[in-house]
Amino acid sequence: MELPFAESWKIKMVEPIRKSTREEREKWLKECNYNVFMLRSEQVYIDCITDSGTGAMSDRQWGAMMMGDESYAGARSFFSLKDAIKNITGFDYVLPTHQGRAAENVLFSYLVKPGNIVPGNSHFDTTKGHIEARKAFAVDCTIDEAKDTQLEYPFKGNVDIKKLEKVLQENGDKVPFIIITITNNTAGGQPVSMQNLREVRKVADKYNKPVIFDSARFAENAYFIKVREEGYRNLTIKDICREMFSLADGMTMSSKKDGLVNMGGFIATRHEDWYEGAKGYCIQFEGFVTYGGMNGRDMDALAVGLDENTEFDMLETRIKQVEYLAHRLDEFGIPYQRPVGGHAIFLDADRILTEVPKEEFPAQTLTVELYREAGIRGCEIGYILADRDPVTRENRFGGLDFLRLCIPRRVYTNNHMDVIAVAIKNVYDRRHEIKHGLKIVWEAPLLRHFTVKLEPVD
Ligand code: F0G
Repeated sequence: MELPFAESWKIKMVEPIRKSTREEREKWLKECNYNVFMLRSEQVYIDCITDSGTGAMSDRQWGAMMMGDESYAGARSFFSLKDAIKNITGFDYVLPTHQGRAAENVLFSYLVKPGNIVPGNSHFDTTKGHIEARKAFAVDCTIDEAKDTQLEYPFKGNVDIKKLEKVLQENGDKVPFIIITITNNTAGGQPVSMQNLREVRKVADKYNKPVIFDSARFAENAYFIKVREEGYRNLTIKDICREMFSLADGMTMSSKKDGLVNMGGFIATRHEDWYEGAKGYCIQFEGFVTYGGMNGRDMDALAVGLDENTEFDMLETRIKQVEYLAHRLDEFGIPYQRPVGGHAIFLDADRILTEVPKEEFPAQTLTVELYREAGIRGCEIGYILADRDPVTRENRFGGLDFLRLCIPRRVYTNNHMDVIAVAIKNVYDRRHEIKHGLKIVWEAPLLRHFTVKLEPVD
């Protein structure tokens, strides 16, 4: 008999978590104004709000932390990190930053000017924010297949080359670079194929434009290329990563995801002039060029994390857990963005809470219902997150309305996945009783989803 699949690690340290009662949760929901960002973590049983900075480090990483060099300038820890990055990406120039959005801030301060247009595939909110804050525009060129949640398509994160070429043809002079997010978080943790990255490079070369990868989940992207794309099965994840990055000019990184650390980020590039241009902003906003807001020990842990998470077994364990949860949801017929992506399940709230009108925010309503049901915290990636149109001030109901359930790396077991699946089933079974959602009683003018205050409609 073939042995079943199991994790490629064992557990050395545990952190207790606590269940709560429905009455307690009801009270806490009122207190947090039906916005789960405002809950205390002790009020949460299983926390799927993000996979960012919530992973568990390995014994090798904790060991490396004891060796951190905290010198202000020229720390050995920086050079370990630089070597690890060079080994995986081939990039010679590295600037550490305290997290991913800080890398965007530093690099875009050098590269983005007012009136610029930055095409990409579903820019992440902070990426878009850093473009728009500079009075520039982000143009989404993701393939249309990504919008149909029930369509099985292996690389739903891909760029539509025709859309991209149109932007370059019409407004090429305004484009400082193309940014490709691997994997495409906003579309559902969906990967971008190597072929698509190659086609982007070809168009970029035709119009003489650089390409940046937003690389938060680059290793998960490489895993999908290995298992889904013709010709990559026998290559190692590190080989695939080197090939991916050979198609880019540089990268921004949130190390809190595929770097397997709780905090950190960096910029890496093959261009000395980018490094020279951005380093002043690193010093101004983050710190000296050999630490950029990171502790020496954290750079050491990151160097190990990058190496560990570009090994197949580590990624297989992770992605199979996300797939396990997806298979459980399939048993119950629950709709989500298919096929399941790398870091999360994106439940299609419009298809679940069919009786809740758009104006009452179905995905946020589902987020609240799932917390009420079992103390599981997800995160709305839908109409509230979409903010209002800056000109008309109307809600933007044009996109998809998801409840995202992120799976932290190396943190929960498949028993927790079973609890999540059954809790969702229980909400799904009573979906026709949920006819009303939530209304906004207070909101911030930008990035409102973090602090919004809501109230039940009925
Ligand atoms: N790019 C992508 C694709 C991201 O998913 C994130 C963060 C960032 C950039 C910014 O990185 O948080 O280190 O500043 N995503 C988190 C999430 C917050 O929950 O998806 P950061």
